[in-house]
Amino acid sequence: MSALGKIVVLGAGNIGGSLAQRLAEMDVAAEVTLVDIVDGLPQGKALDIAESAPILGFATKVTGSTSLDALSGADVVVETAGLARKPGMSRSDLLEKNASIVKGHAQALRAKAPQAVAVVVTNPVDVMTYYFWKQSGLPSNRVFGESGTLDTARFRTFVADELKVAPRDVTGFVLGTHGDTMVPILSLTSVSGVPLARLLPAERLNAIVERTKQGGGEIVNLLKSGSAFYAPTAAQAELVRAVANDEHRLVPAAVHLDGAFGERDVYLGAPAVIGRQGIERVVEVDLTPGEWDAFRASAKAVRDDLAILAKLPP
Ligand code: 2OP
Repeated sequence: MSALGKIVVLGAGNIGGSLAQRLAEMDVAAEVTLVDIVDGLPQGKALDIAESAPILGFATKVTGSTSLDALSGADVVVETAGLARKPGMSRSDLLEKNASIVKGHAQALRAKAPQAVAVVVTNPVDVMTYYFWKQSGLPSNRVFGESGTLDTARFRTFVADELKVAPRDVTGFVLGTHGDTMVPILSLTSVSGVPLARLLPAERLNAIVERTKQGGGEIVNLLKSGSAFYAPTAAQAELVRAVANDEHRLVPAAVHLDGAFGERDVYLGAPAVIGRQGIERVVEVDLTPGEWDAFRASAKAVRDDLAILAKLPP
């Protein structure tokens, strides 16, 4: 018996398709439904994934639809719809277009599945998560965004490559916005408990921090059309599984800060415990003065985008 009844993935692009595949293979829900406005795309990808079940052995039913009616009865909804970056674009360049998509979906969710937990992935993700929360009317614990989990995975990968250790043995946190002002927290990074500062000289660490900040852009530049989706969907699937299995995972996610980290009424990447009801609590951690400065700059970048959003026609 699966942990969840139904997961709906909004958007059947590279992210949506890859995420639906990962979720089906995890077997955490009776049904995964892909939804997209392009007729044939969600149905085709869903059927393709479903046809792998006899070989891979998962029981999840995978379906596709062009209708937001598919949201009815959803336990978890993942918002992936929207434009992706092209080379030279920042995530904020996507703001206006993606806001109109997110708005429609959040309002449909409010009408059809107000009991769901929503995970937002659409960029610029911290801002879109805030907007989705506002438009959906859901309690803030049931709306969160995927950001730091991906950035932290990139950071862990680069550290593991440098040190020639298993990537899974590197743990850490990248906090703040999922953008150029993200904040890798070196004081909280270790390899199986051994502090990173003992293992790597400062200039190598700084190079890894800089590469992490540009991690999404590095892939965009290599692909030339479209942006990353393998690592992003691994991060998203980890978050959905934490909800499905009520795992109480302590991971970085874009969460509503209402006093924590000295910030109010903003969504920003912070360490949070995630279970069946979404965000159970935000965990405050000690930051160095430099990390605090970077965190505040991150919050300002998100607030600047929120101000642009506030000026859009209702
Ligand atoms: C990334 O960082 C898509 O924003 C996403 O690759």
